[in-house]
Amino acid sequence: MDTIPIPFRFDADAWSVDERDFPAASSTAERLQFCLNYAVLAPSCYNTQPWFFRLTGDALELFADRSRRLPVGDAEGRSLVLACGAALFNLRCALRYFGLRTKVTLLPWLREGDPLSNSEVPLARVQIDGAESCAAPERALFQAIKRRRTYLGAFDPAPISQKLIDAMQEQARREGAWLGILEDVEAKAQLSSIVAQADRKQFSERRFRAELAKWRRRGAPLMPAMAPGALQLGPHGEFAEPFGIFLDPMLSGHEPRDLIEETPLIGVLGADNDTPLDWLRSGQALQRTVLWARAAGVWASYLSQPMALPDARLEVAYLLDRNYPIMLVRFGRVPEPAPSRLLRAARYIVGR
Ligand SMILES: Cc1cc2nc3c(=O)[nH]c(=O)nc-3n(C[C@H](O)[C@H](O)[C@H](O)COP(=O)(O)O)c2cc1C
Repeated sequence: MDTIPIPFRFDADAWSVDERDFPAASSTAERLQFCLNYAVLAPSCYNTQPWFFRLTGDALELFADRSRRLPVGDAEGRSLVLACGAALFNLRCALRYFGLRTKVTLLPWLREGDPLSNSEVPLARVQIDGAESCAAPERALFQAIKRRRTYLGAFDPAPISQKLIDAMQEQARREGAWLGILEDVEAKAQLSSIVAQADRKQFSERRFRAELAKWRRRGAPLMPAMAPGALQLGPHGEFAEPFGIFLDPMLSGHEPRDLIEETPLIGVLGADNDTPLDWLRSGQALQRTVLWARAAGVWASYLSQPMALPDARLEVAYLLDRNYPIMLVRFGRVPEPAPSRLLRAARYIVGR
């Protein structure tokens, strides 16, 4: 690939991107480039931000950054693709907000190889395809991009309205995924013990602890404390403490299990199949659903532990009576807003 790499740098100001700076009168490339500032505000496992982009004229390609894979915690690369899907949704949303119609092709050159093992193969290609005005619901999604943060603490236990749940499920469907709901006490208690077991299993593995420690060291200011599964480590808590897992102040004062059982709504995002294409769609669905919730004043927090372990994942599928669960998300209203995490600058390379 003939490219000019943009040097890596941290960008403490990534969240301060301002829509008034959109270069409306500039070239397509510059407008695409500006919208990348919204793509990189997406969530990612351990805050790895495992994506990069290639800009070629009027198109952008999204790639998985294999150097930011988690070979132990995310052996299949599912979380990585989910994060890339979330970034892709932000990008689509920003382009739409600024009046640009897009044509998006997922896994455009799959025949050329596997995008998770070959850095020449993109996960998606986004092309500008004319102009289009942005309707009110899409504007609300865009406005939520900058207001979204992962909320690690306990949620207000007040229930979420059925109307909002229906709308969130519709958002997931629109991206080709489904959103199952766990609301009753019994189901949440069962999920709580599945998550606790998954945590214990992961933390009992030296390679897992080493990988987590590496990411904490590498991105000290980038990665927040883990929650809420890590809170339920029980006898394995002593392994986690040296890595600073309990450092997040939002977690202090909460009993183990509180976070899941007192959460008003647990969403299980899933797809009808379990291929990288489904993960990419699910990542977009995840972000669309989370942004929709955020626009309605509801925050989200992710639980990926049981999704990384095949047995635990199967238990979640049984609990819900549906395959394939892909990500667990706690939803609720919050007593006070979460702080923003540091992000890397929008990284892209320019194809010649
Ligand atoms: C696929 C995926 C998996 C995640 N898994 C977890 C998790 O298991 N526990 C957790 O506390 N946060 C999890 N997160 C949230 C990240 O830690 C968070 O997105 C990242 O630190 C950036 O912070 P922000 O979302 O507030 O911008 C996950 C996020 C994604 C996209």
